[in-house]
Amino acid sequence: MSDRGMLRILTCGAVDDGKSTLVGRLLFETGHILDDEMAALERDSRIYGTVAGEIDFALAVDGLVIEREQSITIDVAHRYFSTSRRSFIVADAPGHEQYTRNMATGASKADLAIIVIDARKGVVEQTERHANICHLMGIRHVVLAISKIDLVEDAQSAFRKIAETFVLSAEPLGFASLQPIPVSGVTGDNVTTRSGRTPWYTGPTLLEHLEQIDAATDTKALPFRFPVQRVVRPNQDFRGYAGTIASGIVHVGDAIVSALSGRPSRISRIVTADGDLQMASIGDAVTLGLSDEIDVARGDLLVPATERPEISDQFAAQLIWMDETHLLPGRSYVLRIGNRWVPASITAIKHRIDIHTRQHLAARNLELNEIGVCNLATALPIAFDAYAENRETGSFILVDRISNHTVAAGLISFGLRRATNIHVEELFVDKAARSSAKHQRATVIWFTGLSGSGKSTIAKRLEKRLHDSGNHTYVLDGDNVRHGLNHDLGFTDTDRVENIRRIGEVSKLFADAGLIVMCSFISPFRAERRMVRELLEDGEFIEVFVDASLAECQRRDPKGLYAKALAGKVKNFTGIDSPYEPPEQADIHLVTENVEPDALVDQIMAHLREKGRI
Ligand code: ADX
Repeated sequence: MSDRGMLRILTCGAVDDGKSTLVGRLLFETGHILDDEMAALERDSRIYGTVAGEIDFALAVDGLVIEREQSITIDVAHRYFSTSRRSFIVADAPGHEQYTRNMATGASKADLAIIVIDARKGVVEQTERHANICHLMGIRHVVLAISKIDLVEDAQSAFRKIAETFVLSAEPLGFASLQPIPVSGVTGDNVTTRSGRTPWYTGPTLLEHLEQIDAATDTKALPFRFPVQRVVRPNQDFRGYAGTIASGIVHVGDAIVSALSGRPSRISRIVTADGDLQMASIGDAVTLGLSDEIDVARGDLLVPATERPEISDQFAAQLIWMDETHLLPGRSYVLRIGNRWVPASITAIKHRIDIHTRQHLAARNLELNEIGVCNLATALPIAFDAYAENRETGSFILVDRISNHTVAAGLISFGLRRATNIHVEELFVDKAARSSAKHQRATVIWFTGLSGSGKSTIAKRLEKRLHDSGNHTYVLDGDNVRHGLNHDLGFTDTDRVENIRRIGEVSKLFADAGLIVMCSFISPFRAERRMVRELLEDGEFIEVFVDASLAECQRRDPKGLYAKALAGKVKNFTGIDSPYEPPEQADIHLVTENVEPDALVDQIMAHLREKGRI
């Protein structure tokens, strides 16, 4: 095999453009559709085929019967093939509008995209969307496969017109190469052999082009990056770090550092299942031994001392939103980069990108399949490179902490240095000192429940009781805080997340002041309540579920808001047209129907004493 290396190809095109047939033809002519597959294909072509009298190669690519029956491709499917000169992986991205996320997933790994255009239809809206996503995902080489060339009258002028239109519109995207080729999957024109039908075309066939293109040189020159997946210690004498090399080359003796701690060492061994190596490179799964016992944990990145990645806890990135639930700025998600998992939130959405026009649009959130430019903050620093420089160490995913769904894919643009210039100022008096001067332990008692469930009533009485027994207290209440600090917030999901985020930070300050703080907020989402818990020390956060049925709250309706909500005069009202997620494991569960508030206060006082808070 030549040294061109594996070429990772993404195919994209609108439905029915002949994309699958083209890939099927490529597989067939390179001997990758086997005899029994061929027999099955002939049979299926008679049943499902869309190509009269011919074998429909699209069926080989589209694979699953269920998909055949719908005559569409629905996920990213991979196909491997090779020639004497090179090997290839083809990922097929479906053409439908709603599958931006699938296409982005395929595109993040690809070296080259084949954008298929039906010669009879020309450049359509989808084509530009595909080109834009390829650009956003960092694909540098594009083949414009102008397909079904056997079906147009004046093929030469159709080809020329489509190629010119596309080249012009793709110019601002700055692809390193852009090769238009007239092809037909059905008849095989210019797929692996030059076609007599297109004597006016002097360029390479599709296969020639794929064999020749030099897409891998860019990645070979990248600095060494090794995300540590596991620390292995088979015996007393050896401690190693297992993982897969994300980029670059490493040799025994190389000077490296742990990216996160900056501690230096040297590579003492490169261990594999088949014995030790002197050198390893991108894609190799190895265990690295170091000559010093430096502190390296799972999730760290080993890098050359002279070519370090950026380290920051704030950065700008492009996000592709992949979840049915829209992005909520301020919510704590889990960010995974390499093998590192850290809590992270979106601190600002700069703009959304229209993937048809590349225009920047104002946005307050991102919906499924939307792409936006955002600032993010992580709870701990991460090591990364800009995606434009290194796709492996410059990309991440966001995972929802409750559902465990991958909600977004992210491409890092640059670190924001602001945060690293701000240091925490050490004070002379600390929380422990402030608390003990008050003969109590700082505590946040968090009341959650529907409007009208009794949160404020209980919080107020509890404060009175604590105050009377000499404790130092404060109450933060939804209605009050929304007149001041949070007067800019309404009741959309996004605003409620931000409301609780701010209150969480404020309650942390009050706790730092040594106070016992009662927070009375509907706080309808589990994710944010958990976020506040995590802001505080162990045991400091006590979640109290103030539980009254919706029917009972509507009956009480102390502010007349349920009546208004039911009449449609108040929108997004919790329990009516906005959700409430009850706690799964509250520290204290109070059922407030037919019980005197003072009895409930007794329960909380008993809990505080039992836990040694007062
Ligand atoms: S939260 O959902 O963001 O936690 P918060 O507790 O601050 O809500 O505010 C809730 C209070 O605002 C309610 O007790 C009620 O008096 C008032 N309110 C006004 N509109 C709404 C609404 N659409 N949904 C819920 N509460 C509302």
